[in-house]
Order: sequence, then C-alpha cells, then structure tokens
Amino acid sequence: MKVSIIVAVSKNHVIGTKAGDLPWELPRDLKHFRETTHGFPCIIGRISLEGFGDLLPNRFNIIVSSKKEFFNAKDKTRINLPEYEKGITEKGAQYVIVKSVKEAVDYAKDVLKTDLVYICGGKGIYEDSQQYSHELIVTDVDTHIEENDVVIYNPFPSIDERNKWKVVNQIHHPKDHQNNLDFSITYYVKNDEILVGYEIDQTKK
Ligand SMILES: NC(=O)c1ccc[n+]([C@@H]2O[C@H](COP(=O)([O-])OP(=O)(O)OC[C@H]3O[C@@H](n4cnc5c(N)ncnc54)[C@H](OP(=O)(O)O)[C@@H]3O)[C@@H](O)[C@H]2O)c1
Repeated sequence: MKVSIIVAVSKNHVIGTKAGDLPWELPRDLKHFRETTHGFPCIIGRISLEGFGDLLPNRFNIIVSSKKEFFNAKDKTRINLPEYEKGITEKGAQYVIVKSVKEAVDYAKDVLKTDLVYICGGKGIYEDSQQYSHELIVTDVDTHIEENDVVIYNPFPSIDERNKWKVVNQIHHPKDHQNNLDFSITYYVKNDEILVGYEIDQTKK
C-alpha cells in the first residue's frame, strides 16, 4: 500500500490556525486536494475534521481521535455520525475512528485493503505518518503567515529528511482573480524505501 501525504504550507511552514482554519483561500488548491484524494481513504486528525466542518464526502474518513463526538469548529454544531467508531453518514461518507496513526494506516491496509491512502493532516498526523509515507504532495504557498496561534509543520525539518525525497513533478500556479497568492505543487517520492508492503515498480525508477 502506498501512503501519500498531501499538505499545503506557507513559506514559514504554517499549515493552519489553532482554531482549525486554513490561513488562505485558494480554491484552485482545494480543487487539487479534492480531485487527488477523491475515492481514496483519507486519514485525518480530529481538529482538522472539526475545521473542515464535516466528513470528507466520497472518501473513507479514517479519523484519529480519542473522542466520541466531533463539532464543526465554526458554528459548534455536532458533526452527525450515526454510530460511534464506524459507519456511514446520511450523505454517504464512510468513517471509522481510531486512536493512533499506526492504527489508521493498518486499518487502510488490512481492513480496507486499499492500494493508496492519503494523509490529510494536521501536524501530529503528518509527523507520525512521515515514516510510513512513500509520496509527499506539497503545495508551497507564496506567503509568510505572521499570525499567532498557528500550526506549523515542516515536511523537511532536517537535511537528512530532505535527502530522503526526490522531486518527480512540479506545477506552478500563478495568482489570479480567484486565488490571490502564487503557489506551486511539488510531488516527491521517497528515494528507495518500500513501505507498508508497497512494492515500488523497479522499471519506473
Ligand atoms: N494546510 C493543510 O494542508 C492542512 C491540512 C489539514 C489540516 N490543516 C490545518 O491543521 C490544523 C489542525 O492540525 P492540528 O495538528 O492542530 O490538529 P489535528 O492533527 O488535525 O488533530 C489533532 C487531534 O487529532 C488526534 N491526534 C493527532 N495526532 C495524533 C496522534 N499522533 N496520535 C493520536 N491522536 C492524534 C488528537 O485527537 P483527540 O484530542 O480527539 O484525541 C489530537 O488532539 C488546522 O489549522 C487545519 O486547518 C492544514
């Protein structure tokens, strides 16, 4: 199984606010997130889920939390889950609640038997899953966020970590009337590691 981290970061590695918001509005990057993850299981931390305000539709949501109920961060309404631990919502979003990133990755591999799972944040989920990950999809947003109460995640906290990854594709998106910041999306793959039973096709290296 391939484990893929998908994240958007500012120049100073801000990924969001502690209240659960994204610090920018980039519809084109959200479209990239939706299209990339569509149909695949997504591993997501409780605060990110509450920041999104609802389960991600058309995906199996693997929620990492010790809690039993979740609230939309904006209007504080309860996110409607018909059953604790595992189920499907009225809108057709499937979910399971697990207690750790390892449990989440194992669930995707052993129960869902998926070929690909996306890691959708936030910080603790990204950091704990990086060791299992084969792919990193990073949106670099051309801004410095100077607010307090932000959440920081640096995919490359050391030269050693950066050296584990190679760039395989990069797409630049200049700002436009709907997206008021430049950003670029870079696809990295881990150099030589075979992860969570995922076989790298040697002919494509
Ligand atoms: N820029 C992006 O691409 C992107 C993507 C997603 C989210 N975000 C941003 O990230 C921020 C939220 O991130 P966050 O780091 O504060 O919260 P988070 O990771 O979304 O959620 C934290 C909660 O998830 C559970 N959890 C997280 N890591 C865990 C671990 N390793 N083991 C067990 N449980 C774990 C715990 O839940 P319990 O407390 O319930 O036990 C913890 O309190 C928001 O600002 C959001 O907008 C940004």
